Amino acid sequence: MSNKNHHEKIEKSVGLLGIFTIIAISFGTLVQITPLMYLEETTTPVHGLRPYTALEMEGRDIYIREGCNNCHSQMIRPFRSEVERYGHYSVAGEHVWEHPHLWGSKRTGPDLARVGGRYSDDWHYAHMMDPRSVVPQSNMPAYPWLADRVLDGRHTARKLEVFRMLGVPYTDEDIAGAADAVRGKTEMEALIAYLQSLGTHLK
Ligand code: HEC
Repeated sequence: MSNKNHHEKIEKSVGLLGIFTIIAISFGTLVQITPLMYLEETTTPVHGLRPYTALEMEGRDIYIREGCNNCHSQMIRPFRSEVERYGHYSVAGEHVWEHPHLWGSKRTGPDLARVGGRYSDDWHYAHMMDPRSVVPQSNMPAYPWLADRVLDGRHTARKLEVFRMLGVPYTDEDIAGAADAVRGKTEMEALIAYLQSLGTHLK
């Protein structure tokens, strides 16, 4: 039988075609992804990176819960237009302790990868209570309930423990003090603490 017939056989059999397609895609995936797990550049934290504090960690979960990442990316691409607007492009070493990372690609609002320190806490508070009060043309939703809801810290230590299991260097003291560090704070305070930490580690 010639090669042509083999090929024809595969093309005409849904089962065989399916199996070979899966093999081809799996091979391509392995070739692309496996090296990234071992490259120093993608697995080593940038100098000065620190894990999220307990309060920032709670803020991050609120960010995910409220779906902020549906409108905001956290990944500055290495293009001049992006770097001039948002600051130094994102590097892998800034994100090695993110589980999951929130890079995204949908930008209804601006990228937030380096928003930390760009505005005051008061600005963020006013903006979250009513975005139009500080940016008249904004179409971002308001999140006033965040100012009323108070954290009890019930799951905070556990969250840090899970991150430690995934390789984030939390100490026993961090975990022991986690609940006390957030108890009584509002969700708004936690979210603002998180926003103020974003992208501030790369020097
Ligand atoms: C429906 C889309 C949408 C959602 C959801 C959304 N935003 Fe926004 N956001 C925007 C838009 C548009 C802007 C630009 C106008 C403005 O500053 O309000 C913006 C601006 C911002 C800014 C100012 C960024 C800068 O560099 O000026 C911050 C900070 C921010 N959003 C945080 C959040 C947080 C935190 C959440 C979730 C609680 C959130 N956003 C949810 C659309 C959104």
